[in-house]
Amino acid sequence: MNLAEPLLGWYSKEGRDLPWRQNITPYKVWLSEIIMQQTRVAQGLPYFEKFFRELPTIEAFAKADQDQILHLWQGLGYYSRGRNMHVAANQIMETYDGSFPTTFKELKTLKGVGDYTAAAIASIAFNQPKAVVDGNVYRVLSRLFNIDKPIDSSGGKKYFQELADELIDPESPGDYNQAIMDFGAMVCTPKNPLCEKCFLKEKCEAYHDGVVQERPVKSKK
Ligand code: ADE
Repeated sequence: MNLAEPLLGWYSKEGRDLPWRQNITPYKVWLSEIIMQQTRVAQGLPYFEKFFRELPTIEAFAKADQDQILHLWQGLGYYSRGRNMHVAANQIMETYDGSFPTTFKELKTLKGVGDYTAAAIASIAFNQPKAVVDGNVYRVLSRLFNIDKPIDSSGGKKYFQELADELIDPESPGDYNQAIMDFGAMVCTPKNPLCEKCFLKEKCEAYHDGVVQERPVKSKK
């Protein structure tokens, strides 16, 4: 399926105007992506603004004391994210001379940076074809391709990552990744998805088969 073309067309018109999408730097991408984990964009946005205002560079972040970071983090939950970021900022200062590493593999050596965040930074900041797979991507792909593999099984995770890597637009990987996340947040939503208005409904196998609400599948625990 050529997903990239319609998705990027939609994104250029309807994509959200988010502050880390302007004058992109790896620092902004890292900061925004860690803040947005387990957090909705609407909730995380004011935190991004506050952090970026108080600590505008990776150097400022590294030099800040832990208390200041945890204070800025207050209300977001999962405080280990803030502590890990402080460690990662110091890794970047010490190991990489203050510049973010540019490869997926090196990015993953940073504390708190896993597959998702490394793919987001590599694609959005460095234009590398690494697909992000977050909750939005699981939902969108499971519906478009009517996939019933559980997204919380190791086999399912691998399957979705491989599919996502095949679908990414190698010319605009960062926009493609952000487009699919916006599409999941704005159109292909968990509840009451906007199927009737969706520009992909003709391509959507779960829509065709009437099982949109049953995708994605999670293994029973
Ligand atoms: N959720 C987390 N990061 C995002 C991004 N870069 N674009 C859209 N939604 C997101």
